[in-house]
Amino acid sequence: MNFHILTLFPEMVMQGLMTSITGRAVKQNKIGIEAVNIRDYTQDKHKKVDDYPYGGGAGMLMQAQPVYDAYRSVADQFPANAKKRVVYVTPQGTPFTQQMAQDFARQDDLILLCGHYEGIDERALESIVTDYVSIGDYVLTGGELPAMVVIDSVSRLVPGVLNNDESAQTESFSDGLLEYPQYTRPANYKGMEVPEVLLSGHHGNIEKWRHEKSLERTKKYRPDLYEKYMAENNNGR
Ligand code: ADE
Repeated sequence: MNFHILTLFPEMVMQGLMTSITGRAVKQNKIGIEAVNIRDYTQDKHKKVDDYPYGGGAGMLMQAQPVYDAYRSVADQFPANAKKRVVYVTPQGTPFTQQMAQDFARQDDLILLCGHYEGIDERALESIVTDYVSIGDYVLTGGELPAMVVIDSVSRLVPGVLNNDESAQTESFSDGLLEYPQYTRPANYKGMEVPEVLLSGHHGNIEKWRHEKSLERTKKYRPDLYEKYMAENNNGR
């Protein structure tokens, strides 16, 4: 699977993504990541990519021409039947979920469009964007961090990106609950003991304890997920 990031700050995304697990996956050819500098596509002789919004208001907008042409430079290289999506990361988008990550992981190519300033001319968005995605109800200075979040979560679902140890973990959200607490050696750290049941070797009891802890945590920190889980799993209420 290939990720293409349309951005004014290619170094920012490449530095982050070429590190750690995503960087390893690129080196092993499990995924491809390229950053395309939108500024390279402006036809303005001063390399300008933004202008004032019609109708007035604060801030500047990215212009349609460089954004659209940067997109074309990427999309024109795909075969006609490529499975691709064009994601604009924006606080105005649909909240990003694990399910969306799974959907994106089935594509051949994912193009991520990063906005800056007050956003992007609507006509560029209407021409190219298939999915509007927000990573949460807060506003960042640009789309680079959200694009990195999306790429990180999607790439770890691509077969071969995680090794066995990394992928064997039972994960938060895979069953709709948050993950249970985990412990490693030593069994006593500053007087704090690892729960007895985890040392017992009794797999049935360990599973039961973990499930109870997952429920407890989910109820405390994510009452929304807890209610959904209880409704879906018919837990006698
Ligand atoms: N750009 C700025 N803030 C954002 C957010 N919360 N999600 C996605 N893109 C953004």
